[in-house]
Amino acid sequence: MIRFKNVSKIYKPNTAALKNVNLRIKPGEFVSIVGQSGTGKTTLARLIIAEENVSKGSIIVGGWDITNIKQAEIPTLRRQIGVVFQDFKLLKKKTVYENVAFALEVAGAEPVKIRNIVPQALKIVNLEDKLDRFPNELSGGQQQRVVIARALVHRPKIIIADEPTGNLDSINVQEIIDLLLKINKFGTTVVLVTHNHDIVNALRKRVITLDQGQIISDQEEGKYLL
Ligand SMILES: Nc1ncnc2c1ncn2[C@@H]1O[C@H](COP(=O)(O)OP(=O)(O)O)[C@@H](O)[C@H]1O
Ligand SMILES: [Mg+2]
Repeated sequence: MIRFKNVSKIYKPNTAALKNVNLRIKPGEFVSIVGQSGTGKTTLARLIIAEENVSKGSIIVGGWDITNIKQAEIPTLRRQIGVVFQDFKLLKKKTVYENVAFALEVAGAEPVKIRNIVPQALKIVNLEDKLDRFPNELSGGQQQRVVIARALVHRPKIIIADEPTGNLDSINVQEIIDLLLKINKFGTTVVLVTHNHDIVNALRKRVITLDQGQIISDQEEGKYLL
C-alpha cells in the first residue's frame, strides 16, 4: 500500500529531514509514527501525499510509483488519501455541511453525489445533527471530526493524520482515536503521526519510531520508546 525505498529528504540548503528510510505499510494496517519534534514525521507524511518530493530513493502508494509524480497527477493521488493535518483548517464562513461539501465541489463532483455523500460522511463522525453549525460553534474535538469527515468524502484507501489530537483535551483525544479505529475497521489504512505517549501505548498497534530522520524501531503492538 505504502512503500519507501531508501528515501532521503534534504531541505535546502542542508537539513537532512529523512535519511535512507525503508518502510512498508500493508493495506488495512493502523500504524503510528512517533518520535521527538523535528525528527521528520511530518516530512514523511508530506512525501506520501506528494506535498514534497524525495531527494533520493522512491515512494510507491497503492502500486503507483509517485517518486516523480507530475503536478497534473497530484489531485488523483490526493483523492486516494484522506488527510487530517493541523494546518488544513476548516473554512470559518462555511457551515459544517458546506465545509465537507466543498472538498467534493473542488473535485468537480455532481451535486447529486455531494448531497448523497456529505450526510454519510458526517454520520460516520457522529455530527449529523450539526450540519448547519459554523466551525466556531463547535468544540475542538467536533471541529476535528469535521476535518475527518472531509477527509473521507473520496472514500480514500488511506487516512494520514498528523498530530490530529495536538490541540485537544484528553476526552476529545480519545474520541478522535476511537474514530480513526472505526475507520480502520472499515478497511482503510491509517497512518497516525503523534507524540502522545498515552495514545500509542493504549493502541497496541504497530509503532514506527523516528529519530533524527531515521527509523530506529518498528514494532507490532509497540510502545512509545523515546
Ligand atoms: N519546508 C521546510 N524547509 C526546511 N526545513 C524543513 C522544512 N520542513 C521541515 N524542515 C526541517 O526538517 C526537519 C524535520 O521536520 P519535520 O518533518 O517537520 O519533523 P517533525 O514532524 O517530526 O517535527 C526539521 O529539522 C525541520 O526544521
Ligand atoms: Mg510534525
